[in-house]
Amino acid sequence: MAGEKTVDTTGLLGWIDKRFPLTSTYKAHLSEYYAPKNFNFWYFFGSLALLVLVIQIVTGIFLVMSYKPDAALAFNSVEYIMREVPWGWLIRYMHSTGASMFFVVVYLHMLRGLFYGSYRKPRELVWVFGVAIFLCLMGEAFFGYLLPWGQMSYWGAQVIVNLFSAIPFIGPDLSLWIRGDYVVSDATLNRFFAFHVIAIPLVLLGLVVAHVIALHEVGSNNPDGVEIKQGPKDRNGHPMDGIPFHPYYTVHDIMGVAGFLMVFAAIIFFGPEMGGYFLEYNNFIPADSLKTPPHIAPVWYFTPFYSMLRATTSDFTWVFSAGAVIAAIALFFKGKLSGLWRFGVPIVLLIIAVFMKTLDAKFWGVVTMGGSVVILFFLPWLDKCPVKSIRYRPTWHKFLYAIFIIDFVVLGFIGTQAPTPALNLISQIGTMLYLGFFFLMPVWSRLGTFKPVPDRVTFHAH
Ligand code: HEM
Repeated sequence: MAGEKTVDTTGLLGWIDKRFPLTSTYKAHLSEYYAPKNFNFWYFFGSLALLVLVIQIVTGIFLVMSYKPDAALAFNSVEYIMREVPWGWLIRYMHSTGASMFFVVVYLHMLRGLFYGSYRKPRELVWVFGVAIFLCLMGEAFFGYLLPWGQMSYWGAQVIVNLFSAIPFIGPDLSLWIRGDYVVSDATLNRFFAFHVIAIPLVLLGLVVAHVIALHEVGSNNPDGVEIKQGPKDRNGHPMDGIPFHPYYTVHDIMGVAGFLMVFAAIIFFGPEMGGYFLEYNNFIPADSLKTPPHIAPVWYFTPFYSMLRATTSDFTWVFSAGAVIAAIALFFKGKLSGLWRFGVPIVLLIIAVFMKTLDAKFWGVVTMGGSVVILFFLPWLDKCPVKSIRYRPTWHKFLYAIFIIDFVVLGFIGTQAPTPALNLISQIGTMLYLGFFFLMPVWSRLGTFKPVPDRVTFHAH
């Protein structure tokens, strides 16, 4: 290796290197990690997600110094942080804005993966770790939201924990076990606090490390979806289409960080509530177990999934039943399943179609909501497109992506509104589009005329 000759074996660094792989780690992950030279705007969001993770941990540590995880004290301790603790308001707003910005950044990061097929071979595990991170992030946000002990904290937790009671047989006991009481109470607050400040962050950190290690093992994808490791190499064996992460992308990412911090600061200083989207107005009222707010809605980042939960009414389960029967017939006659699978999968689908009408719609709502996130794990195997990047897909694929994005935003908006028959119908159509996008992907992703993929990445110096 060219780099190994330059390792300094004298001095403090040499002393450390003989005992700990400092220089070699620095080289493997920074100065000699060769990333494609054609990264664009979309590649800012990974490093931004890391930045927000650090912001959340640091501000969280300071919040814990003054917060009291006690149902009698929690609400006032947050008020105390806002009014009395020096700079407490800034720390709290950084943390509450950071939570929403985490989801903004992560949604854009995932969208980039979707656009450029970054979840495809050999990056399946990078994606799977990513979806696990996303699940953890949702858990982290959900547990954290109870802590200010406002009306929305309280009733939001009540609604979501009650959902578990829809699971057949074990449901009611399960929700009681999660709450630790018959209603959300001090016991619930204490356990949610434990999960929010230590359990989930530990898992999250572990997953982020695994995510980056997996990525560095296979190398980054890029907007062309061309594998630079398979392209030409220079005389040191480095890919000609790659550039060292440090200094090129460390400096490049500083630009993303600067842009992000401007937006972040503008929100914190001029509109930390973001019109009730980042901090809901009802949450400035202390939790009251005797007063249910007329309209309970989760924070915006959960609302697309919440919409799908509400869309699953008893009538709507007919649509799911019909879908399961059609899928069973299609898989049996036209599918590529062989052996036992050819019979097993359609039979399971037919059983589901029957149970769809015998079990409570609320249960299927929970399954739909959970399934709409879990399906993301399978994306690497659902996409059968001969090309990775959206750049080389047929134009109508791009329209499908556009419809999917608009659908997700519309579902998100509906989830923030009080239900009406019209909105419910739209959310049912939206749910079908969302699920159809993924379930039918093995079919539609192969269709159309694909543009030829170049051998080298396309790069225009600027
Ligand atoms: C705490 C949250 C996360 C952090 C800190 C994080 C961090 C990173 C970093 C630093 C990179 C390399 C830079 C880049 O390509 O942008 C990356 C790449 C990637 N991440 Fe994440 N990530 C997070 C969440 C997710 C999620 C939720 C997903 C998907 C469900 C995901 C999927 C990917 C994929 C597919 C790549 C490879 C992209 C490519 O090479 O084109 N990540 N991530």
